[in-house]
Amino acid sequence: MRRGIEIPRLRRDGKDGLAEQIAAHFRGAIEDGRLSRGERLPTIRLVADELGVTRATVQSAYRLLAEGGLVRATVGRGTEVVAGTAPHARTLVSRAARAAGDALRGGPVPPTLPIGQSLLADFGSLQPDRASLPVDAVADALDAALRDDGPALLAYGDPAGDRGLRELLARRHADALPADPERILISSGAQQGIDLVLRTLTEPGDAVAVPLPAYPQLFGALAAHELRLVPIETASGNLEPEALARVLDEVRLVYAMPTFQNPTGSTLDSAQRRAAMELIAASDVPVLEDGVECELRFRGAELPSLQSLDPRGRTVTVRSFSKGLFPGVRIGWLEASPELIAPMAAIKRFSDLESSPLLQAALGRLLRSGVLDRELERLRAELRTRHAAARTHLASAMPAGVHWSEPEGGLSLWVELPRGCDARRVAIAAARDGVLVTPGDAFHPRSRSVAGFRLALSRAPLDVIAPGIDVLARHVRSETGVRDGGRAAIPLVL
Ligand SMILES: Cc1ncc(COP(=O)(O)O)c(C=O)c1O
Repeated sequence: MRRGIEIPRLRRDGKDGLAEQIAAHFRGAIEDGRLSRGERLPTIRLVADELGVTRATVQSAYRLLAEGGLVRATVGRGTEVVAGTAPHARTLVSRAARAAGDALRGGPVPPTLPIGQSLLADFGSLQPDRASLPVDAVADALDAALRDDGPALLAYGDPAGDRGLRELLARRHADALPADPERILISSGAQQGIDLVLRTLTEPGDAVAVPLPAYPQLFGALAAHELRLVPIETASGNLEPEALARVLDEVRLVYAMPTFQNPTGSTLDSAQRRAAMELIAASDVPVLEDGVECELRFRGAELPSLQSLDPRGRTVTVRSFSKGLFPGVRIGWLEASPELIAPMAAIKRFSDLESSPLLQAALGRLLRSGVLDRELERLRAELRTRHAAARTHLASAMPAGVHWSEPEGGLSLWVELPRGCDARRVAIAAARDGVLVTPGDAFHPRSRSVAGFRLALSRAPLDVIAPGIDVLARHVRSETGVRDGGRAAIPLVL
């Protein structure tokens, strides 16, 4: 049979009918472009002979496809595909690119302000507060770097990243791990770090375990690499050992954000980290540890990274300054054993040659002069105050049955509504009143109603927190049907 549409062995356990299985196979081939519009399905006789089924079975399968509007049978012309991609589109754009495009268009987007509505509070964005960005300090660092070292910085640099910067970064999160610059690869933000890990440690078709809810750009990255997401369903969105144990056997890689998880703000405690890593270390599955918010702890003790608990050296940590300082510089880094850094550096080399030497030099200066650490300290203090204000106000404004996470750091917290409530409806209603939040469905790969939303505090100064939460609480009340002292009438989501 023609390449690309081979029929897998049929399951004869009686669970799915044979005709249904054959139809599902061709439906998949049409949907993912292996069969394109205008092509013919193989003849009924050929399929029947190959699979050892009756022609009537194959006829039923083709009838199912015709009823679904996917094929049309014409006397003398056989069964023609009438849906899916046109042939020229199939050859022009790869399956991975189409999957990435679908992920981009398909995901639920957070509500935006209606035209004419002024902003009261932005709890939607994880972007930094524009008013407090250290623009002058960055300008000075760029200026000084160019003045002192211009010709070298405007040429190509070291593909693994500026050696001096890598030394600084290696010492920054030394943990129990060696502070070795060979363990660091500079990337264009943590997002490129994720991409490099996926490209280095997986093959198309592999499964990746992801605790949900999770960072939405991860879903697109998985799609772009033709990877299958295996959800670890938890309340915390974190790597809870029991839930992990249920999926570990079927995956090629585990993704986790153990500290100030986006979107829930949850942190895996020390015992859970050790238990999760013990399970993983007994397998050969590598780990992608997302550490983009690690530096934003404003209370409680530092916890060991997953990488420091992996005696096999199979964990890669991605980090960046995007969440603590500014995403616009697009500098992040990967931390791993030199054996894993080398293949990732090779992939990066042929992807973008290297990250900007000029921006790395400026960042190095900001680190050495202490500007970045002072900025981080300021941000942590600001977040401590904002989180405390949010907690206090949620407690006084939200109706009974609403719960929220109490992170020890990071940019956001999670507000959980009573079961059955639709956070998207709350978010849309709040946006009409000038308050933005991101409803939970944005953090799941397939759209579904979620009874919770992320409340981000990075762009919400202290004075808008109470009025913003009041608006949210009003809409939560009308969604839940809860009145003060009244009983919850929770609508059923079917
Ligand atoms: C959890 C998580 N990982 C990775 C990234 C990407 O960060 P960067 O801007 O460094 O590419 C983000 C950005 O929002 C994020 O929230």
